[in-house]
Amino acid sequence: MSQGTSGPAAALTGIRACVFDAYGTLFDFATAAAGCAEIPEDRRAALTNLWRDKQLQYSWLRALQGAYVPFWQVTGDALDHALETLGLAGDDGLRERLLDLYRTLGCFPEVPSVLEALRRAGLVTAILSNGSSDMLSSAVEGAGLSGAFDAVLSVDEVKTFKPDRRVYQLAVDRLGVSADAICFLSSNAWDAHAAAAFGMRVIWCNRYGQRRDRLPGVPWREIRTLAELPPLLERPQ
Ligand code: LAC
Repeated sequence: MSQGTSGPAAALTGIRACVFDAYGTLFDFATAAAGCAEIPEDRRAALTNLWRDKQLQYSWLRALQGAYVPFWQVTGDALDHALETLGLAGDDGLRERLLDLYRTLGCFPEVPSVLEALRRAGLVTAILSNGSSDMLSSAVEGAGLSGAFDAVLSVDEVKTFKPDRRVYQLAVDRLGVSADAICFLSSNAWDAHAAAAFGMRVIWCNRYGQRRDRLPGVPWREIRTLAELPPLLERPQ
């Protein structure tokens, strides 16, 4: 992990926009299973993890196959697989409740104040997510973040999924900001690496304390929560 050329305390210069991954970075996907009292407590974490793993795998595999469907369908398909694997299938009410909770997950606690600080500093703020447009609108609204973003960009526009380069290019095109003036934040190491390989300046928000991945692209810095972000950015000129 690069720490910048001027040592660990250096700020990232020349940044005009902060672009965020959505799920796991801004919105806490663990709150869906955690909010379902009818799931035995000892199986909630397993459901969260398997659901997430399958959701990501299905998105990558569909991207490779050229078989794009909106992330909402991928999310439902992954949930079906996870419920069946954990012996929780067959209760349509439970499935619907989990999906309802997923629509409005709630954000990590520091997110509203961090977004406010970035906008006060004159930075453009945006989401760039594999989520479908409707999911992202509900999540943003449900978390009370309407108005906190200059743009909410969904892969629906390019009909493939991150880490395809066309998705990162979408942010450049739609924001009108060059890749090296974008600070991209993701809790997903694979996403952080891919955005860095694309040419964005990347901060890996390693919320889950994961080991680093061995993939192309070098994130500039690793942080543990987004609260560490504002001091790392120099105000735009
Ligand atoms: C996203 C998922 C992959 O928001 O976290 O793009």
